Amino acid sequence: MIFLMPYSDFDFNDKTILITGGAGFVGSNLAFYLQENFPQSHVVVFDCFRSKAIFANGNLQSFGHYKNLIGFKGDVICGNINNKADLALLNDYTFDYIFHQAAISDTRVYDQELVMKTNVNSFHDLLSLAKQNHAVMVYASSAATYGGLPSPQVVGKESPENPYGFSKYLMDQITYRFIDQNPEMSIVGLRYFNVYGSKEYYKAKTSSMVIQLGHQILDGNPPKLFEGSDQILRDFINIEDVIQANILACKPQQSGVYNVGTGNPRSFQDIADILQNGLEANLGTEYFPNPYEGYQMHTQADITKTEECLGFEPKVTLEEGIKTYIPEIRRLHGEPLS
Ligand SMILES: NC(=O)c1ccc[n+]([C@@H]2O[C@H](COP(=O)([O-])OP(=O)(O)OC[C@H]3O[C@@H](n4cnc5c(N)ncnc54)[C@H](O)[C@@H]3O)[C@@H](O)[C@H]2O)c1
Repeated sequence: MIFLMPYSDFDFNDKTILITGGAGFVGSNLAFYLQENFPQSHVVVFDCFRSKAIFANGNLQSFGHYKNLIGFKGDVICGNINNKADLALLNDYTFDYIFHQAAISDTRVYDQELVMKTNVNSFHDLLSLAKQNHAVMVYASSAATYGGLPSPQVVGKESPENPYGFSKYLMDQITYRFIDQNPEMSIVGLRYFNVYGSKEYYKAKTSSMVIQLGHQILDGNPPKLFEGSDQILRDFINIEDVIQANILACKPQQSGVYNVGTGNPRSFQDIADILQNGLEANLGTEYFPNPYEGYQMHTQADITKTEECLGFEPKVTLEEGIKTYIPEIRRLHGEPLS
């Protein structure tokens, strides 16, 4: 892990910080970033962790994993954001910052009631908590709010195409209203594009293609890609830059919703090629027909406002990001997912 670099001059020492979803991919990276850089900060992780419960699509209902938190020294509360009694456990603290990452993060969950309840209703509760505590709120929105809109994706023009994208879109609308009604509050929604990097392994089939293709290659198989993958481009963003955005979002020039991508889309073929290079493999590529109708062929975050209002500057190229990730991809190859 490299995060030993404060991305700003804010001092989180002596601050009390809540990270919902802190046993997941982004949340656990944030927890360690704060712990390493601000040893006097008081970080509280709130996460329901994984159980055996699965969605209709066969994926686990929550991906939080204790292994993401080994070495974490702060408080850990096991609780569900849908459960008021669990949320009441947070009343023992007065938070200065809330990083709200907990969500059904699986974009292919079509149980609309469950997605809206988990991702949207709980947001009202957490915003109330932020208001009551005079806390800064930074939460995870998503590029899924854009659906299949052509690139570049710009905040203000959305067209979600699944319940997940719609739930994040609703969170953003709630935010705009809340900012209007509470102009003294600092609230920032971050629309992450395709995040990859350390601590995503336990998301299993919903982890990025970087680790999934890496493990196919380590199995000795050619990476499997949709036909035409050199023409399917995504704005892949390294976890370090996502952490940078979260930290900078604590002191925005203006509350609001911001894209978090590189602005520089790359193809799935690029990922496979960079991985083979890094893993010293030469297995070629296996192509198969893309089964998804209306599949998004190109994403590219417009990050002009993110640069202007947060001071965000993506630092990690896909080549660098994959290179530093390779040892972890190797280490986790074959590791049980449960
Ligand atoms: N990783 C990406 O590429 C990406 C892209 C866009 C947006 N996001 C958003 O960023 C946030 C973090 O995503 P991630 O990749 O770390 O996913 P993740 O699934 O690893 O993390 C989400 C965490 O929330 C927890 N959680 C789920 N339901 C909960 C509930 N009801 N109560 C309490 N905790 C619950 C899970 O256990 C998990 O630890 C999510 O809000 C996600 O929607 C992620």
